[in-house]
Amino acid sequence: MDGEDGSGVLVGRRRALALAAATAAAAIGGLRPATARRSDGLAARAARAGLTFGSSVAAEVDTDPAYAALYRDETAIVTTDYALKFDVLRPDASTFRFEPADRLLAFAKGAGLAFRGHALIWNENVPGWVKTSSAAAVERVMAGHIERVASHYAGRVHSWDVVNEPFWPGHGIAGGFRDGPWFRAMGQRYVAEALRRIAAVDPKARLLINEAFTEHADDLGLAVRAGLLKLVDDLRQKGVPLHGIGLQGHLDMRKPPDDEGFRTFLHELARRDLDIWITELDVNDSALSGRVETRDIAVAARVAGFLAAVLAEPRVRGVITWQLSDRYSWYRDPAVARSLSPARPMRPLPFDDRMDRKPMWQAIAAAFEARRRT
Ligand code: XIL
Repeated sequence: MDGEDGSGVLVGRRRALALAAATAAAAIGGLRPATARRSDGLAARAARAGLTFGSSVAAEVDTDPAYAALYRDETAIVTTDYALKFDVLRPDASTFRFEPADRLLAFAKGAGLAFRGHALIWNENVPGWVKTSSAAAVERVMAGHIERVASHYAGRVHSWDVVNEPFWPGHGIAGGFRDGPWFRAMGQRYVAEALRRIAAVDPKARLLINEAFTEHADDLGLAVRAGLLKLVDDLRQKGVPLHGIGLQGHLDMRKPPDDEGFRTFLHELARRDLDIWITELDVNDSALSGRVETRDIAVAARVAGFLAAVLAEPRVRGVITWQLSDRYSWYRDPAVARSLSPARPMRPLPFDDRMDRKPMWQAIAAAFEARRRT
């Protein structure tokens, strides 16, 4: 492209020198610009489509150098897997164990990656000392937790999953809300309280509600979709700060896809002026049998269909997988694997146990390229 003085070559050379200087400076400052990561990695491909790609992250990046390198090459954003979950952070009422998440934040900063906090308030993973407190005490605990944690990371977090999984119709509560200490103490207003409180402490962070199950059109998925839209309308009507919705994207090969229905649901969220993120993409392939190559191709086809629908929605800002490599998937946790009894170790992610790219990686790359072309 010609420069202002029409001498494209001269301006081009100046720009190249400026980029080289910026890259060198950024590398020294620990902030690698997006251009320094692998140009054919998923993050670079996503960026070319105006999207952000990333993954959840945990302590493995401190112990597995090959895995840390994979994040640096393939991601632009990371979400704490469990370091900021209430039970990890708060073993007792007087303790805030920030060290594990601080180490992940340092890794992200050193690699030039944005940092997402997960999950500030969730009616799961709540320690006993909270569950045995009075309703008034639980409300005070939530307020104090949000203020202390949001203050500790203020200005350094791209976005928060402020409330995780507010719905679980199986608990039989009107509206399909998930039962738990926060709901029991405050009813559904705990959601608005949490959002208002963190907005007051960290006005820079983008605030999301993060939810599961909406990807499939079974009774559970349809109920959660309806509940979430109603909750958003209620929050909007009350002027509660909310920037986006995280939809986890735990695809399940035991359930038929509902990609077009999901795309309609995304449009309903976008109509409410919400950014949308796929926040925990992976595939439960426990139901698949046959050769690994065949199963991997089936998983990739499922992801391709899902992302074709998802990325057709302009308000979708990014795709984040729940870990990068099969080796560290939560589906390899013995407790989770036992509940699914797969015929063989599950392969839910874009990279295999040896960090090699799989057909799912190709499917994600192709989906980003298709979005870039639209
Ligand atoms: C998972 C973690 O990855 C596992 O290590 C843990 O044993 C269970 O929780 N939805 C969520 C995540 O929002 O926090 C969950 O993470 C996976 C489902």
